[in-house]
Amino acid sequence: MTTKRKIIIDTDPGQDDAVAILLALASPELDVLGITVVAGNVPLPLTALNTRKIVELAGRPDIPIYAGCAEPMDRPLVTAEHVHGRTGLDGPTLPDPQIELQAEHAVDYLIDTLRETSGVTLCPLGPLTNIATALRRAPEIAENIREIVLMGGGYFEGGNITPAAEFNIYVDPTAADIVFQSGIPITVLPLDVTHQALVIPSRVEAFRALPNRAGPAVAELTDFFERYDKEKYGSEGAPLHDPTVIAYLLDPTLFESRHINVTVETQSDLTLGATVADWWRVSDRPRNATWVRNINADGFFKLLTERIATLP
Ligand code: RIB
Ligand code: CA
Repeated sequence: MTTKRKIIIDTDPGQDDAVAILLALASPELDVLGITVVAGNVPLPLTALNTRKIVELAGRPDIPIYAGCAEPMDRPLVTAEHVHGRTGLDGPTLPDPQIELQAEHAVDYLIDTLRETSGVTLCPLGPLTNIATALRRAPEIAENIREIVLMGGGYFEGGNITPAAEFNIYVDPTAADIVFQSGIPITVLPLDVTHQALVIPSRVEAFRALPNRAGPAVAELTDFFERYDKEKYGSEGAPLHDPTVIAYLLDPTLFESRHINVTVETQSDLTLGATVADWWRVSDRPRNATWVRNINADGFFKLLTERIATLP
Protein backbone atom coordinates (compact mmCIF):
# COMPACT_ATOMS: atom_id res chain seq x y z
CA MET A 1 0.00 0.00 0.00
CA THR A 2 1.63 3.27 -1.05
CA THR A 3 1.50 6.03 1.57
CA LYS A 4 -1.16 8.69 1.13
CA ARG A 5 -0.03 12.11 -0.09
CA LYS A 6 -0.55 14.74 2.61
CA ILE A 7 -2.25 17.84 1.22
CA ILE A 8 -3.80 21.09 2.44
CA ILE A 9 -6.32 22.73 0.10
CA ASP A 10 -6.55 26.55 0.16
CA THR A 11 -9.73 27.69 -1.53
CA ASP A 12 -12.27 30.43 -2.39
CA PRO A 13 -15.41 28.46 -3.41
CA GLY A 14 -16.57 29.04 -6.22
CA GLN A 15 -18.24 26.25 -8.13
CA ASP A 16 -14.99 24.94 -9.61
CA ASP A 17 -13.33 24.96 -6.19
CA ALA A 18 -16.27 22.87 -4.98
CA VAL A 19 -15.66 20.21 -7.62
CA ALA A 20 -11.93 20.18 -6.78
CA ILE A 21 -12.67 19.64 -3.08
CA LEU A 22 -15.12 16.83 -3.89
CA LEU A 23 -12.51 15.16 -6.12
CA ALA A 24 -9.88 15.35 -3.37
CA LEU A 25 -12.24 13.93 -0.74
CA ALA A 26 -13.18 11.11 -3.10
CA SER A 27 -9.55 10.07 -3.69
CA PRO A 28 -8.00 7.60 -1.23
CA GLU A 29 -4.50 8.43 -2.52
CA LEU A 30 -4.78 11.79 -0.74
CA ASP A 31 -4.71 12.61 2.97
CA VAL A 32 -6.50 15.96 3.19
CA LEU A 33 -5.03 17.33 6.46
CA GLY A 34 -7.28 20.40 6.35
CA ILE A 35 -8.91 23.04 4.17
CA THR A 36 -8.02 26.71 4.54
CA VAL A 37 -10.36 29.37 3.18
CA VAL A 38 -9.52 32.71 1.60
CA ALA A 39 -11.53 35.63 0.19
CA GLY A 40 -11.65 35.63 -3.59
CA ASN A 41 -14.60 34.70 -5.76
CA VAL A 42 -16.82 36.10 -2.99
CA PRO A 43 -16.01 37.60 0.44
CA LEU A 44 -14.61 35.37 3.19
CA PRO A 45 -17.85 34.76 5.14
CA LEU A 46 -19.34 33.24 1.98
CA THR A 47 -16.26 31.26 0.90
CA ALA A 48 -16.13 29.83 4.42
CA LEU A 49 -19.86 28.93 4.40
CA ASN A 50 -19.50 27.40 0.93
CA THR A 51 -16.54 25.28 2.02
CA ARG A 52 -18.58 23.92 4.95
CA LYS A 53 -21.47 23.08 2.59
CA ILE A 54 -19.17 21.23 0.18
CA VAL A 55 -17.39 19.18 2.87
CA GLU A 56 -20.84 18.26 4.24
CA LEU A 57 -22.02 17.26 0.72
CA ALA A 58 -18.98 14.94 0.57
CA GLY A 59 -20.03 13.38 3.87
CA ARG A 60 -16.70 14.25 5.52
CA PRO A 61 -17.29 16.01 8.85
CA ASP A 62 -13.80 14.81 9.87
CA ILE A 63 -12.10 17.40 7.62
CA PRO A 64 -11.13 20.55 9.60
CA ILE A 65 -11.91 23.89 7.91
CA TYR A 66 -10.09 27.12 8.83
CA ALA A 67 -11.11 30.64 7.77
CA GLY A 68 -8.20 32.84 6.73
CA CYS A 69 -7.52 36.24 5.20
CA ALA A 70 -10.49 38.43 4.29
CA GLU A 71 -8.42 40.92 2.26
CA PRO A 72 -5.37 40.73 -0.03
CA MET A 73 -2.00 41.72 1.47
CA ASP A 74 -1.84 45.26 0.15
CA ARG A 75 -4.83 46.11 -1.99
CA PRO A 76 -8.65 46.02 -1.80
CA LEU A 77 -10.44 42.73 -2.45
CA VAL A 78 -11.77 42.13 -5.97
CA THR A 79 -14.53 39.49 -6.19
CA ALA A 80 -16.22 37.59 -9.06
CA GLU A 81 -19.96 37.39 -8.32
CA HIS A 82 -20.53 37.96 -12.04
CA VAL A 83 -19.09 34.49 -12.62
CA HIS A 84 -20.07 32.58 -9.48
CA GLY A 85 -23.32 34.33 -8.43
CA ARG A 86 -24.04 36.34 -5.30
CA THR A 87 -23.48 33.37 -2.96
CA GLY A 88 -20.40 32.16 -4.82
CA LEU A 89 -22.01 28.73 -5.04
CA ASP A 90 -25.14 29.46 -7.08
CA GLY A 91 -26.64 26.41 -8.77
CA PRO A 92 -27.61 23.61 -6.37
CA THR A 93 -29.60 24.19 -3.19
CA LEU A 94 -27.33 22.84 -0.46
CA PRO A 95 -28.54 22.59 3.15
CA ASP A 96 -27.11 24.81 5.89
CA PRO A 97 -24.08 22.85 7.10
CA GLN A 98 -23.71 21.31 10.56
CA ILE A 99 -19.92 21.32 10.23
CA GLU A 100 -18.43 24.31 12.07
CA LEU A 101 -15.27 26.25 11.29
CA GLN A 102 -12.23 25.59 13.45
CA ALA A 103 -11.45 28.43 15.86
CA GLU A 104 -7.82 28.77 14.67
CA HIS A 105 -7.09 31.27 11.88
CA ALA A 106 -6.00 29.58 8.66
CA VAL A 107 -2.59 31.28 8.69
CA ASP A 108 -1.92 30.09 12.25
CA TYR A 109 -3.05 26.60 11.23
CA LEU A 110 -0.70 26.60 8.23
CA ILE A 111 2.25 27.75 10.36
CA ASP A 112 1.54 25.37 13.27
CA THR A 113 0.98 22.39 10.96
CA LEU A 114 3.95 23.06 8.68
CA ARG A 115 6.28 23.53 11.66
CA GLU A 116 5.39 20.01 12.82
CA THR A 117 4.57 18.06 9.64
CA SER A 118 6.94 17.44 6.72
CA GLY A 119 6.23 16.45 3.14
CA VAL A 120 2.99 18.45 2.81
CA THR A 121 1.68 19.50 -0.62
CA LEU A 122 -0.22 22.81 -0.65
CA CYS A 123 -3.05 23.07 -3.21
CA PRO A 124 -4.07 26.73 -3.56
CA LEU A 125 -7.21 27.20 -5.66
CA GLY A 126 -7.72 30.94 -5.06
CA PRO A 127 -5.72 34.09 -4.30
CA LEU A 128 -2.46 33.24 -2.51
CA THR A 129 -2.97 35.55 0.48
CA ASN A 130 -3.09 32.83 3.19
CA ILE A 131 -0.03 31.01 1.84
CA ALA A 132 2.10 34.13 1.38
CA THR A 133 1.14 35.52 4.80
CA ALA A 134 2.20 32.24 6.44
CA LEU A 135 5.51 32.22 4.52
CA ARG A 136 6.22 35.86 5.45
CA ARG A 137 5.47 35.25 9.16
CA ALA A 138 7.29 31.91 9.40
CA PRO A 139 9.74 31.41 6.50
CA GLU A 140 11.06 28.23 8.10
CA ILE A 141 7.88 26.36 7.15
CA ALA A 142 9.07 26.25 3.51
CA GLU A 143 11.33 23.27 4.32
CA ASN A 144 8.29 21.15 5.19
CA ILE A 145 6.39 22.00 1.99
CA ARG A 146 6.98 19.22 -0.54
CA GLU A 147 5.36 21.17 -3.42
CA ILE A 148 2.82 23.90 -4.15
CA VAL A 149 0.40 22.83 -6.91
CA LEU A 150 -1.80 25.80 -7.71
CA MET A 151 -4.43 26.97 -10.16
CA GLY A 152 -3.52 30.42 -11.40
CA GLY A 153 -1.94 32.53 -14.07
CA GLY A 154 -2.05 32.42 -17.83
CA TYR A 155 0.36 33.11 -20.67
CA PHE A 156 -0.74 31.77 -24.07
CA GLU A 157 -4.36 32.32 -23.02
CA GLY A 158 -3.76 35.81 -21.60
CA GLY A 159 -5.93 36.83 -18.68
CA ASN A 160 -9.58 36.46 -17.63
CA ILE A 161 -10.19 39.27 -15.12
CA THR A 162 -8.04 41.71 -17.14
CA PRO A 163 -6.56 41.19 -20.61
CA ALA A 164 -3.22 40.40 -18.91
CA ALA A 165 -4.06 38.70 -15.61
CA GLU A 166 -5.85 35.61 -14.32
CA PHE A 167 -8.17 36.18 -11.32
CA ASN A 168 -6.31 34.30 -8.54
CA ILE A 169 -3.05 36.10 -9.26
CA TYR A 170 -4.69 39.47 -9.99
CA VAL A 171 -6.54 39.61 -6.66
CA ASP A 172 -3.25 39.43 -4.72
CA PRO A 173 -0.17 39.91 -6.93
CA THR A 174 2.09 40.62 -3.92
CA ALA A 175 1.14 37.27 -2.40
CA ALA A 176 1.72 35.50 -5.71
CA ASP A 177 5.15 37.13 -6.06
CA ILE A 178 6.12 35.92 -2.56
CA VAL A 179 5.08 32.36 -3.47
CA PHE A 180 6.81 32.31 -6.87
CA GLN A 181 10.03 33.67 -5.35
CA SER A 182 9.93 31.33 -2.33
CA GLY A 183 12.18 28.64 -3.81
CA ILE A 184 9.54 26.02 -2.98
CA PRO A 185 8.84 23.56 -5.86
CA ILE A 186 5.81 24.96 -7.67
CA THR A 187 3.55 23.46 -10.32
CA VAL A 188 1.13 25.82 -12.05
CA LEU A 189 -2.20 24.85 -13.68
CA PRO A 190 -2.82 28.08 -15.66
CA LEU A 191 -5.61 29.14 -18.01
CA ASP A 192 -3.41 27.69 -20.79
CA VAL A 193 -4.40 24.23 -19.59
CA THR A 194 -7.72 24.81 -17.81
CA HIS A 195 -9.24 26.32 -20.96
CA GLN A 196 -8.85 22.85 -22.51
CA ALA A 197 -10.91 21.26 -19.69
CA LEU A 198 -14.33 22.32 -20.97
CA VAL A 199 -17.51 21.04 -19.33
CA ILE A 200 -19.31 20.23 -22.58
CA PRO A 201 -22.92 18.90 -22.37
CA SER A 202 -21.99 15.20 -22.57
CA ARG A 203 -19.67 15.64 -19.59
CA VAL A 204 -22.29 17.51 -17.54
CA GLU A 205 -24.88 14.80 -18.32
CA ALA A 206 -22.45 12.13 -17.13
CA PHE A 207 -22.39 13.87 -13.73
CA ARG A 208 -26.18 14.33 -13.72
CA ALA A 209 -26.75 10.64 -14.42
CA LEU A 210 -24.77 9.45 -11.38
CA PRO A 211 -27.02 7.67 -8.86
CA ASN A 212 -25.81 9.62 -5.84
CA ARG A 213 -26.23 13.12 -4.34
CA ALA A 214 -22.83 14.48 -5.40
CA GLY A 215 -23.13 13.75 -9.12
CA PRO A 216 -26.29 15.79 -9.79
CA ALA A 217 -24.96 18.53 -7.49
CA VAL A 218 -21.80 18.78 -9.63
CA ALA A 219 -24.01 19.02 -12.73
CA GLU A 220 -25.99 21.87 -11.13
CA LEU A 221 -22.76 23.63 -10.10
CA THR A 222 -21.40 23.45 -13.64
CA ASP A 223 -24.79 24.38 -15.19
CA PHE A 224 -24.60 27.70 -13.34
CA PHE A 225 -20.85 28.24 -13.60
CA GLU A 226 -20.69 27.74 -17.36
CA ARG A 227 -23.30 30.30 -18.44
CA TYR A 228 -20.80 33.22 -18.09
CA ASP A 229 -17.82 31.62 -19.81
CA LYS A 230 -19.86 30.09 -22.64
CA GLU A 231 -21.13 33.59 -23.47
CA LYS A 232 -17.65 35.11 -23.11
CA TYR A 233 -15.66 32.52 -25.06
CA GLY A 234 -18.43 31.26 -27.30
CA SER A 235 -17.40 27.75 -26.30
CA GLU A 236 -19.62 24.69 -25.85
CA GLY A 237 -18.79 24.52 -22.14
CA ALA A 238 -16.94 26.43 -19.44
CA PRO A 239 -13.38 25.65 -18.32
CA LEU A 240 -13.33 23.64 -15.09
CA HIS A 241 -10.26 25.27 -13.59
CA ASP A 242 -9.59 24.11 -10.02
CA PRO A 243 -10.16 20.32 -10.26
CA THR A 244 -7.15 20.12 -12.62
CA VAL A 245 -4.94 20.76 -9.55
CA ILE A 246 -6.21 17.63 -7.79
CA ALA A 247 -6.22 15.58 -11.01
CA TYR A 248 -2.55 16.51 -11.50
CA LEU A 249 -1.75 14.94 -8.11
CA LEU A 250 -3.75 11.83 -8.96
CA ASP A 251 -2.47 11.27 -12.52
CA PRO A 252 0.26 13.61 -13.79
CA THR A 253 0.43 11.57 -17.03
CA LEU A 254 -2.75 13.40 -18.09
CA PHE A 255 -0.69 16.58 -18.42
CA GLU A 256 2.24 18.06 -20.35
CA SER A 257 4.48 20.69 -18.77
CA ARG A 258 7.86 22.43 -18.86
CA HIS A 259 10.08 23.76 -16.03
CA ILE A 260 10.55 27.45 -16.68
CA ASN A 261 10.77 30.89 -15.10
CA VAL A 262 7.49 32.48 -14.06
CA THR A 263 7.55 36.07 -12.83
CA VAL A 264 4.55 38.00 -11.51
CA GLU A 265 3.94 41.64 -12.49
CA THR A 266 3.37 43.62 -9.28
CA GLN A 267 3.88 47.23 -10.42
CA SER A 268 2.24 48.03 -13.78
CA ASP A 269 -1.38 49.24 -13.72
CA LEU A 270 -1.86 47.90 -17.24
CA THR A 271 -0.55 44.36 -16.61
CA LEU A 272 -0.81 43.98 -12.81
CA GLY A 273 -0.98 40.29 -11.87
CA ALA A 274 0.30 39.02 -15.22
CA THR A 275 2.33 35.79 -15.01
CA VAL A 276 5.24 36.20 -17.41
CA ALA A 277 5.97 32.56 -18.30
CA ASP A 278 9.31 32.15 -20.09
CA TRP A 279 8.05 29.09 -22.03
CA TRP A 280 10.66 29.57 -24.78
CA ARG A 281 13.41 30.09 -22.17
CA VAL A 282 14.65 33.31 -23.77
CA SER A 283 15.64 34.91 -20.45
CA ASP A 284 18.26 33.89 -17.95
CA ARG A 285 15.81 34.19 -15.07
CA PRO A 286 15.94 31.13 -12.79
CA ARG A 287 13.53 28.30 -13.54
CA ASN A 288 11.17 28.37 -10.56
CA ALA A 289 8.00 26.61 -11.71
CA THR A 290 6.61 23.69 -13.68
CA TRP A 291 4.14 25.30 -16.10
CA VAL A 292 1.41 22.90 -17.28
CA ARG A 293 0.31 23.60 -20.83
CA ASN A 294 -1.72 20.61 -22.06
CA ILE A 295 -4.24 18.15 -20.65
CA ASN A 296 -5.87 14.94 -21.85
CA ALA A 297 -9.36 16.36 -21.31
CA ASP A 298 -11.24 13.10 -21.89
CA GLY A 299 -8.97 11.33 -19.43
CA PHE A 300 -9.45 14.14 -16.91
CA PHE A 301 -13.25 14.00 -17.07
CA LYS A 302 -13.20 10.18 -16.94
CA LEU A 303 -11.16 10.31 -13.72
CA LEU A 304 -13.32 13.09 -12.26
CA THR A 305 -16.62 11.34 -13.02
CA GLU A 306 -15.39 7.99 -11.68
CA ARG A 307 -14.31 9.62 -8.40
CA ILE A 308 -17.44 11.75 -7.95
CA ALA A 309 -19.43 8.52 -8.38
CA THR A 310 -17.86 7.16 -5.18
CA LEU A 311 -19.25 9.98 -3.01
CA PRO A 312 -22.56 9.83 -1.09
O1 RIB B 1 -9.38 32.25 -12.87
C1 RIB B 1 -10.01 31.09 -12.38
C2 RIB B 1 -9.79 30.97 -10.90
O2 RIB B 1 -10.36 32.10 -10.23
C3 RIB B 1 -10.49 29.74 -10.30
O3 RIB B 1 -9.77 29.29 -9.19
C4 RIB B 1 -11.82 30.30 -9.86
O4 RIB B 1 -12.40 29.55 -8.79
C5 RIB B 1 -11.42 31.65 -9.37
O5 RIB B 1 -10.90 31.51 -8.04
CA1 CA C 1 -10.90 29.14 -7.01
